[in-house]
Amino acid sequence: MNKIIKIFNSRNLLSDFFAKEILKNSELIDEGDFLTIAFSGGSTPKKVFEFISENYKDKIPWERIKIFWSDERCVPPDDNESNYKMAYDALIKNISIPEENIFRIYGEIDPSEEEVRYKYVLKGNIPLINKIPSFDIMMLGLGDDGHTASIFPNNISLFNSDKICINTKHPESGQDRITFTGKVINNSKNVYFFVTGKGKSKIVNEILNVDNPNKICPASLVEPSDGNLYWLLDKGAATGLKNI
Ligand code: 6PG
Repeated sequence: MNKIIKIFNSRNLLSDFFAKEILKNSELIDEGDFLTIAFSGGSTPKKVFEFISENYKDKIPWERIKIFWSDERCVPPDDNESNYKMAYDALIKNISIPEENIFRIYGEIDPSEEEVRYKYVLKGNIPLINKIPSFDIMMLGLGDDGHTASIFPNNISLFNSDKICINTKHPESGQDRITFTGKVINNSKNVYFFVTGKGKSKIVNEILNVDNPNKICPASLVEPSDGNLYWLLDKGAATGLKNI
């Protein structure tokens, strides 16, 4: 694994870096193939999507990109809690992407059926490495408690599940979620954490600062075995980091 920590002066600069990563990776795709991206929920990805809508919507070859989700809340796609709806409103509705390139998680159906259905969607549409789908680009957020996607500290063992998608619940609200596990996250070519705001600096330090013993939490288990791990931080989230 190659770990790259980047600190940006603004969310726009962070977003611009990520847009260029999409462009760069789309140029590496062979004729007839697709760049595969897993979107995440969260407040920073939303800003990134809005930035891309405003600045890159005609620059990125969307017809050659397939979009998936690393986690979803089990609600209908028009619900304000839906990660699909967030991405649709902030980006998808503004770009020219064929509908068949968008593979949302069905939050409206029985989660135990959806974890299986989505597994087959991934296996049928993403190149496999070691029999597991391998994303070109995996977006992830970081919760204050160290959760990522919808794997929370209270069910951290799901990260090492044999499944690639799994039904879990939010620890406080009890809301059902569908989430990728470590099996597919760590099989990605490029994983990007999006973390902004001073409120996240405590957990960022606990995971990344060499002065501290490494905290074990779902996000700290993200280590793409044969890929790049990017931590995209703003100055606030990076407050106190000493090893860079
Ligand atoms: C979700 C997310 C989740 C999120 C983090 C960070 O569906 O809630 O995928 O993992 O990315 O909670 O969220 P913020 O950026 O809003 O703090």
